[in-house]
Amino acid sequence: MQAITYQRYGAPEVLQTGQLELPVPKTNEVRVKVHAASVTTADSMMRAGVPRFGRLFIGLTRPRHTTTGTGFAGVVDAVGSAVKRFRVGDRVFGESLFGAGSHAEYVCVEQLGVISRMPQNLDFDQAAVLCDGGLTSLSFLRDVGQLQAGQCILINGASGSLGTAAVQLAKHFGATVTAVCSSANAELVRSLGADEVIDYRNQDLRRLDTKFDLIYDTVGKLAVSKHLHLLKPDGQLLSPVLTLPLLFQVIRTRLCDSRRVRFSATGLRPVVVLRDLMRELKQIVEDGHCRMVIEKEYQLADIGDAHRHIEGGHKVGNLVVRP
Ligand SMILES: NC(=O)c1ccc[n+]([C@@H]2O[C@H](COP(=O)([O-])OP(=O)(O)OC[C@H]3O[C@@H](n4cnc5c(N)ncnc54)[C@H](OP(=O)(O)O)[C@@H]3O)[C@@H](O)[C@H]2O)c1
Repeated sequence: MQAITYQRYGAPEVLQTGQLELPVPKTNEVRVKVHAASVTTADSMMRAGVPRFGRLFIGLTRPRHTTTGTGFAGVVDAVGSAVKRFRVGDRVFGESLFGAGSHAEYVCVEQLGVISRMPQNLDFDQAAVLCDGGLTSLSFLRDVGQLQAGQCILINGASGSLGTAAVQLAKHFGATVTAVCSSANAELVRSLGADEVIDYRNQDLRRLDTKFDLIYDTVGKLAVSKHLHLLKPDGQLLSPVLTLPLLFQVIRTRLCDSRRVRFSATGLRPVVVLRDLMRELKQIVEDGHCRMVIEKEYQLADIGDAHRHIEGGHKVGNLVVRP
């Protein structure tokens, strides 16, 4: 089968299109014929091997798993002898976390892994990207920040993968949403439900009068210490991007501040929690409260272009690759 592989960390040029053996599912695995896969910021960071401490999980000197890609959607085409949850022909989506990559024609996933039947109203492209922005932002808003109806939230990076999902999920939870992105994406973000949209290029967020219950900095671009005054006394700033200054603020606010700064790595949460999040996200999507924004689709051989686009820092929503 065709797949994207890499043998060393580096620029997008390290990605190669190659032929691999068709994987055979183990007893507890299903094999999925991939119809679409996500190309995410995390994929490009894993390819580059940054941040360096991330290599503890993906391989110290070179990638442990050499096929790229995590999110997938497709059709089960073979099952191991102990598989009860899925049948050949099921349309499924999920994440192949730290395992065989989804940028391939086929991927094998444990039946009790991060895999579920697709929402009925989604096509393969949309289902393939659900677990990046959708699952991550649901985890942050529902579990880490415990967003409540009536609260005010500021979402920075509202036009990205995490951001476009977060705006819709926050509205679904009944919050008032102030979204931050460039004016080029303002209309999109408004169409997703944002009550107010601020262009970070024209307006200094530090001078806002509003106080927020939650600030969700999806892109980790806010200097935390300079924006904490925008929180209510018991407010929280959530970030999916771990940096040393953020870590310092996580510890400092825990020790001596009524406000909190929080980081979470969604992919490291227990699989049962991730499957519970998938179940809830699927329901939200099927009820029409959240749609996946897709900027562009790529062929497998052009995956380097997708990585370069991500590294430009202005991806809108999600990117998809079709094996
Ligand atoms: N911890 C976790 O569990 C977890 C899980 C998934 C991802 N992540 C991380 O989350 C981060 C976000 O990923 P993503 O895929 O959502 O990002 P993304 O889609 O690449 O974000 C791009 C968006 O960011 C906006 N942006 C760029 N510079 C900005 C700035 N200075 N201020 C505000 N917005 C700005 C851009 O809007 P404009 O073009 O309008 O400027 C663009 O639409 C990544 O670092 C990823 O690794 C963490």
